[in-house]
Amino acid sequence: MDKIIVHGGHTLSGAVKISGSKNSALPILAAALLTREPCVIHCVPDLSDIHYMLQILSHLGAQVERASGTVQIQAENVSTTAPYEIVRKMRASVCVLGPLLGRHKEARVSLPGGCVIGDRPIDLHLKGFRALNAACRVEAGDVKVFAGELKGSTMNLEGRQGPTVLGTGNVLMAATLAEGITVIEGAAAEPEVVDLAQFLIKMGAKIEGAGTRRITVEGVKELHGAEHSVIPDRIEAGTFLVAAALAGREVTLRRVNSEHLNAVTNVLSESGFQLNIQKDTITVKGNGAPRPVDIITEPYPGFPTDMQAQMCALLSRADGQSSVTETVFPQRFMHVSELKRMGADIAIEGATARITGVPKLSGAPVMASDLRASAALVLAGLVAEGTTEVHRVYHIDRGYESIDEKLMGLGAEIQRVKQSAST
Ligand code: UD1
Repeated sequence: MDKIIVHGGHTLSGAVKISGSKNSALPILAAALLTREPCVIHCVPDLSDIHYMLQILSHLGAQVERASGTVQIQAENVSTTAPYEIVRKMRASVCVLGPLLGRHKEARVSLPGGCVIGDRPIDLHLKGFRALNAACRVEAGDVKVFAGELKGSTMNLEGRQGPTVLGTGNVLMAATLAEGITVIEGAAAEPEVVDLAQFLIKMGAKIEGAGTRRITVEGVKELHGAEHSVIPDRIEAGTFLVAAALAGREVTLRRVNSEHLNAVTNVLSESGFQLNIQKDTITVKGNGAPRPVDIITEPYPGFPTDMQAQMCALLSRADGQSSVTETVFPQRFMHVSELKRMGADIAIEGATARITGVPKLSGAPVMASDLRASAALVLAGLVAEGTTEVHRVYHIDRGYESIDEKLMGLGAEIQRVKQSAST
């Protein structure tokens, strides 16, 4: 298990290129299961979650070839059972259910467990499959879905915590090959759902309304191969924006889609940072202490839950009291206790973190608990006095392509140290 050591106090400047989106790439790679023909996907980031997905596809029988950021997948003949040993490593494995059900009318995948950001059910995915005339059962820890015939229908996938991103994608993939018209009300409108829909349309699917809360699908008999470039990762981009706001003089992000980042750039502007926003680049200037802000996480186009931990790190240095309320994953505050060990003043009240800015953070050994929490700790380390050791950084490698190298390219002093499994 590697650890990352951050020596705080170095100013960031220069430019950084943003990688392809992990959360877009995962369901898009799974969507290649919908056809016998080859699919070519570009801008696929080099991340452990992507490796797990490619392992699952290979295990299912697909031919997978990868050359730098391009992946070619041909799923000529595939089985329909994904094994626990691989699936358990990544919750997003669940998104092979939709394409397998669509094409083979059956699929069996280990049921994902909870994780540190909260209980993560898949009831809404199953609700959607049932609405398509599939039966869903849990057997020996696996979820099994099957149908004689998939039939389009109208359903509402909105849950208590709002829409579901992977659930919308999963049902959308199955519906492309269902008979008749499917209407998904309460659909997630995230850019990653739109990207998936665009790939499916290139494969021959008939989809309208992706990016709105109502998606309509007209089922087709079969899909064909297609080529697609994954959109830039808006969460990686947002994380670098916060790094620059915390520790930067002037940092430019290249290969971004600025429109996808409106909620984050609005908050940074409100917090007093100067931003130069172009269609595919954003430059941010650091200017000392951020102004306090109040943030509520919401489904897109609201402020993303995946940027919440990083904002907690930034607002720990604000000049006054801020609040961060989590509505998508109300228990997602594991990073707070670690930030407090670095000197942050944060109190949790229900699903709200009340953050009183402090003039300095101090380096400390800290433990990464999940993907975005670990990014927040690295960011805090950039401005902390002394040295911060972030342990269990395998979390960060799930979602950030070469984050240490990219930050070092901007002037940060960071080392990655190999550790034995017992540490
Ligand atoms: C995706 C993202 C994740 C992001 C999240 C919310 C991927 C690989 N991951 O996760 O980074 O934080 O969207 O933007 O794309 N829920 C249910 N029942 C379900 C499904 C979800 O109650 O069947 C609840 C969840 O517990 C959560 C909320 O709905 O409270 C949103 O979750 P969802 O959008 O499904 O998250 P993921 O798609 O798993």
